[in-house]
Amino acid sequence: MNENLNLFSAPEPTDKAQAAIEVEALRTRLNHWAHQYYVQDAPTVPDAEYDRAYRELQALEAAHPELITADSPTQRVIGAVMDGLAPVRHAVPMLSIHTETDTEASGAQAFDARVRRELGLSDADPAIEYVAEPKFDGLAMSLRYENGRLVQAATRGDGEVGEDVTHNVRTIRQIPLTLPEGVPPLLEVRGEVYMRRADFDALNERQREQGGKTFVNPRNAAAGAVRQLDSGITAQRPLSFFAYGLGAITPPAEGGPVFRTHYEMLQTLKSWGFPVAAQVQIAVGASELVAFHQQVGASRDALPYDIDGVVYKVNSLQLQRDLGFKTREPRWAVAHKYPAQEMATRIEGIDVQVGRTGKLTPVARLAPVFVGGVTVTNATLHNLFEIRKKGVRVGDQVIVRRAGDVIPEVVGVMPPEGAGLALGRSGGIAVPGHRTVYVPNFKMPKTCPVCGSDVVREKGEANHRCTGGLFCPAQRKEAILHFAARRAMDIEGLGDKLVDQLVDANVIRTLPDLYRLGLTSLIALDRMAEKSAQNVLAALEKSKQTTLPRFLFGLGLRHVGEATAKDLARHFGTLDAIMDASVEQLLQVPDVGPVVARSLHTFFQQPHNREVVEQLRACGVTWPEGAPAERAPQVLAGKTVVLTGTLPTLSRDAAKDMLEAAGAKVAGSVSKKTSYVVAGEDAGSKLARAQELGVPVLDEAGMLALLQHTGGTPAAEGA
Ligand code: IVH
Repeated sequence: MNENLNLFSAPEPTDKAQAAIEVEALRTRLNHWAHQYYVQDAPTVPDAEYDRAYRELQALEAAHPELITADSPTQRVIGAVMDGLAPVRHAVPMLSIHTETDTEASGAQAFDARVRRELGLSDADPAIEYVAEPKFDGLAMSLRYENGRLVQAATRGDGEVGEDVTHNVRTIRQIPLTLPEGVPPLLEVRGEVYMRRADFDALNERQREQGGKTFVNPRNAAAGAVRQLDSGITAQRPLSFFAYGLGAITPPAEGGPVFRTHYEMLQTLKSWGFPVAAQVQIAVGASELVAFHQQVGASRDALPYDIDGVVYKVNSLQLQRDLGFKTREPRWAVAHKYPAQEMATRIEGIDVQVGRTGKLTPVARLAPVFVGGVTVTNATLHNLFEIRKKGVRVGDQVIVRRAGDVIPEVVGVMPPEGAGLALGRSGGIAVPGHRTVYVPNFKMPKTCPVCGSDVVREKGEANHRCTGGLFCPAQRKEAILHFAARRAMDIEGLGDKLVDQLVDANVIRTLPDLYRLGLTSLIALDRMAEKSAQNVLAALEKSKQTTLPRFLFGLGLRHVGEATAKDLARHFGTLDAIMDASVEQLLQVPDVGPVVARSLHTFFQQPHNREVVEQLRACGVTWPEGAPAERAPQVLAGKTVVLTGTLPTLSRDAAKDMLEAAGAKVAGSVSKKTSYVVAGEDAGSKLARAQELGVPVLDEAGMLALLQHTGGTPAAEGA
C-alpha cells in the first residue's frame, strides 16, 4: 500500500491536491480489483487487501468530503430511501421479443426460414450468421452512462416508460459506476439483472434464520430487490448482471462508435467492463442454432443461474436494420424457450408416502400441470417442517418445480395477485395465498398409513418415521435384505432380485415367512432353477444357528448397529431381557444413549414386533444365551488395551471381543494411558512405542492368561 498516505493522513491536514491524487489512485485500483472479482470471477488480491484500500479511501473521503463523487466505490450503498419509484421515459424503447413456443428444433428452423424470406434470400444464398445467447431469467434493465458515469438505471416497464431504480442498481457490484476513457459520451447498456442460484439459496437460508419470509425463485427475489425503495435492502440481496444490447448511443455522425455486428458490440461492452455471458456464441444457419439450443438445454441445470430459453439474433447490424420491426418486436431476434421448470397449479390434497427406511413423506396431489417437459400430478413437500415453513395448505395455488430428473417439488405458495410474481411491493416475497375459506393446517398422521404402526419423530429430526419396521410392507424389502445381510443372519443367495420377487409375489410378508419357504414356491418364481432354489433353502437352514448380536442387528432397528447389538447382548445376556428392559435399564448399557434407548424401547413395545421375534424362534432360529449374571467379570474395567500384529490363533475381532467382554477399552494407538499392548507377529511401530513408554507388552498367551488369571472368560457372544 501507499506508505506516504499514512504519513500524510496523520495529524497534519493532508494537502488537498495530494489527497485528490491518492483518492483517484485508490478508486482506480478498487474498481480494477472489483471488476476482476465480480465480473471476471478471478480475484487477483486477497479480500483483506481490497478492504484495506477501501478503508483508506473512506478515511480520505471523510477528511475531504469535497472529493466524494457519486461514482466512488464507497458510494454504492448510500442508503437512499425513496417515496416511490419515479417514471423514466426510455430514449429508445425497450422492445419485447417474439417467442417461439415450439420447443422442438423446428423453432430455430422456423425463425431462420422467416428471416431468409424477409430478406428475399433463396436456398442458393449462403447461411445467415446469428449470435446465440442464453435467455436469462431475471429482469431487463437499461443503464444510462453520460461521459462514462452511470447516471440512471431504469426497469423496462411497458417498454416506453420504466421506473428509476438507480439507487438500487448502484449496489450491484457487477455494474460499473464508471467506464474507461474513450467510451461514447452517451451510452445506454441493456441487459438482465438476475440472482445466481447459490446467492438465492444463501439469501433464503439467511431469511429463514432471521425468521423472515423466503422467496420462491431467483427471478422473484431479483425483481423484488430491484424495486425496493430502500437501497440498503437491495444491497443485502446479491444481484448480478449480464449485458446483451444497447439503447441510445452517441451517433457515429457525432463521433460515436461504428459497430458492424452484434457480436462485436458485445465484445466491446465486455472490454468496457460489462459482464457478458460466456455461453454467447456465433451460430451459422439454422442447424447451428438447433445445436446451440440442445447444448445449452443439456447444461441448463449445471449453469449457476436460471435461464428459460435461448435468444437468437441476426449478427449483422445492417441486416438487423433491413429486417426492422413488427409492432413492438424486432424481426431479427427471437426467443426459443425450454419447457418451463416452474409452473403454478393447485394443491388438491396432501398424501403421505412411506419410504423404504420408514420415513414419511408428505406428497402434494396436484391439478395436473405441464412442467419440465412432463405432466406432473404429484410433488414432494419433503416433511412437516417444510410445509410449515412454506405455509402450504390444501387448496392453495403453488409453484411446482421440476428440473432435470429431480423429483418434482412444491417450491412455495403463489404470492397474492399483484404481489411478488407481478413485481409488486411485497418484493417478490412468497405470501400464502388469499384463502377465502378456512383450511386446517396439515398434520402428520399418528399412525403409519401403510401398516398402522405408531409414527414417531425424534427430537432434533425433521422427519417422521413409521415404527413398523419389518411389519410395514413399505419397509419390508429393505428389512429382509438387511436381515439376510452377511453381517446379520448371513443368508447366502438372498439378494435384491430374489427379495423383490418374493415380496412382489406376496410369498413373503414377514421375516418368519423366509423360514417357511418351500421348494415349490421358490421354483414357481421366474428364472429360479431347482438347484438354486435348493441352495437358498440350505442357506436359510444354516442361518438358523446364529448369535444374539447378529439376530439383534438383523432386526434392523434404527440406531442399532453391530457394535450396539454386541453391547446389548453382553449387557443383558438374553433377548427377553432386552425386550423387557425399560428405557432406564437400557441406558445402563455402555454407549447406549437416550435416542437408542427410546428407539429400542418403542420397537419392542409394538406387539407385532414381538410376534415376529416369537415366530422366528418358533421357526428354529436360535442362539446361545447367557444370563447377565454369567457375564465375564469386568476384570479389565477401566483398562485400555492396544492390539498390534497378527496373533497366532485369535483373529483381531475375536481378541477385541474377549477384551471388551472383560470390560477393557480397545484403542487404536499407544499412549502413556495404555494399560497393555498385545503384540503378535509383525508388530511394528505400536510395539516400539509401547517399549519406549514402558507400557507392558503381552503376547496372545499372556493376554489369555491375564483374562484367565483374573477369572475372565469371554461372554457367550463372539463375532
Ligand atoms: S434481447 C430487442 N437478449 O427477455 C431485443 N433479451 O422480451 C431485446 N432477455 O425481458 C431483448 N435474456 O430482459 C435479449 N440474451 C437476451 C435476453 C433477453 C433475457 C429478456 C429481456 C426481456 C425479454 C425479451
